[in-house]
Amino acid sequence: MDTGALHKISYGLYVIGARKGQKFNAQIANTVIQVSSVPPRISVCLNKDILTHDFIYDSQAFTVSILAQDTPLDFIGRFGFKSGRETDKLKGINYKIGQTGAPIVLDNALAYLEAEVISEADAGTHTIFLAEVVEAETLMDGEQITYAYYQQVKGGRTPKSAPSYIEKRREDTKGWQNMNVLSAAMSMIPR
Ligand SMILES: Cc1cc2nc3c(=O)[nH]c(=O)nc-3n(C[C@H](O)[C@H](O)[C@H](O)COP(=O)(O)O)c2cc1C
Repeated sequence: MDTGALHKISYGLYVIGARKGQKFNAQIANTVIQVSSVPPRISVCLNKDILTHDFIYDSQAFTVSILAQDTPLDFIGRFGFKSGRETDKLKGINYKIGQTGAPIVLDNALAYLEAEVISEADAGTHTIFLAEVVEAETLMDGEQITYAYYQQVKGGRTPKSAPSYIEKRREDTKGWQNMNVLSAAMSMIPR
């Protein structure tokens, strides 16, 4: 089987926010899709081992911040290569609490959605959360970042926990460090 065919699938990049009791967390995901329009429903596919998965399982709700194309690499790294188990990823980040009680990340967001979980499907290593959109707002105009732009233009990488992780690129272990180096290098390029 040519698994390279899977790499031709397109995605966006999003921050998923969730709550458990009084604790808040957020992570990067590329697996948000709209699955129906009336009523508006979306799904997201999350690794069972990560903290955000645990929070959504508990609170049955999550938020989606749709990221702009110029989102800095270190912002994606903060939410995509670090776990809320080790650090408070929302510290210093501009966010608000929505009607579901989950945090909505506002920095670098073109728009956000709030969703309540309807059902879960077991996808093995991951869970697919199907949810109804209960609130949404556009925050600013602009192009959204795609997964392809993140990888090809920004040189971004993907950790092992992402469903679209590609083994042969050895993207997991050095990912965060590489992103820091790249980010520093890119910030020195005059625009
Ligand atoms: C570009 C990119 C895409 C990602 N997509 C997903 C995804 O769709 N599902 C997922 O479970 N993790 C995905 N991740 C990995 C999580 O963001 C990462 O494991 C994060 O550290 C989890 O944080 P948490 O433990 O605080 O929830 C992605 C990471 C990056 C950088």
